[in-house]
Amino acid sequence: MEKIKVETPFRPVFPSPAGLIVSADEKGKPNIMTAGEIFNIGLRNPCIIGIALRKATYSHSLISRTGEFTANLPPRSLLEKVDGIGMVSGRDGRDKFAEFGLHPLPSLSVKPPVVEECPVNLECRVLSVTVVGDHDLFLGEVLCMRVDADKLGENQRMLIDRMESLLYAEWEYYGIGEKLGNFGFSKGRDLRLR
Ligand SMILES: Cc1cc2nc3c(=O)[nH]c(=O)nc-3n(C[C@H](O)[C@H](O)[C@H](O)COP(=O)(O)O)c2cc1C
Repeated sequence: MEKIKVETPFRPVFPSPAGLIVSADEKGKPNIMTAGEIFNIGLRNPCIIGIALRKATYSHSLISRTGEFTANLPPRSLLEKVDGIGMVSGRDGRDKFAEFGLHPLPSLSVKPPVVEECPVNLECRVLSVTVVGDHDLFLGEVLCMRVDADKLGENQRMLIDRMESLLYAEWEYYGIGEKLGNFGFSKGRDLRLR
C-alpha cells in the first residue's frame, strides 16, 4: 500500500474516551467539560491519569486554582449531552449540570463531585501541570475510583462489554467495538523472557 505523508499531524493517536471532567470553584460550585485528551500515565500504585486542557477553558483555571478534578467516563446514551457540554463554557456562570440534565454526586476524596450517570468515576488530585504546545498537561493521582456495581466483575475488574463506552477520533464519536481477545492470548506469551 502506498504511504502518504500527512503534512500537519493532528490528534494522531486514536481513539480516546470522550470523557467528562468536573472541577469546582472555591465555593464548591461544580463545572463540567468534555475532554477527549484523557490518558493512562501511571497504571497502579500510584494510579495516575493525564488530561490535556486549553488555557482558555474555565476548567483549566478552576483546576489550576484548586488542584482537584474528577474524570468521568460516559456511556453512549449520553452522547448528545457530552457533545453539548463541550460546546459551551461555564465561565459566565452557567450551570451545565442542570442545563444538560446530569447529576453531581459527592466525591469521597475531593471537592469536585462526580457525574452520577457515568459508570466510571475517578477522583484526582493534581500532581503537576506542564505546558505542552497548545494544551497544558495535568497529571492527576487517582485518589478514589468508583464503578457502577453492575459493571464490576470478579476481582473488581471492569466489565468493559457492559460499559457502552463513548470514543472520540477525528471530530467523530464512536462506540466501543467487539472484544477480540485477552492480554497474552497469543503465541508471544510462550516466547517472552521470564
Ligand atoms: C468531544 C470533545 C472533546 C474535547 N476535548 C477537549 C480536551 O481534551 N481539552 C480541552 O481543553 N478541550 C476539549 N474540548 C473542548 C471543551 O470541552 C470546551 O472548550 C468547553 O467549552 C470547555 O468548558 P469550560 O470553559 O466550562 O471549562 C472538547 C470538546 C468536545 C466536544
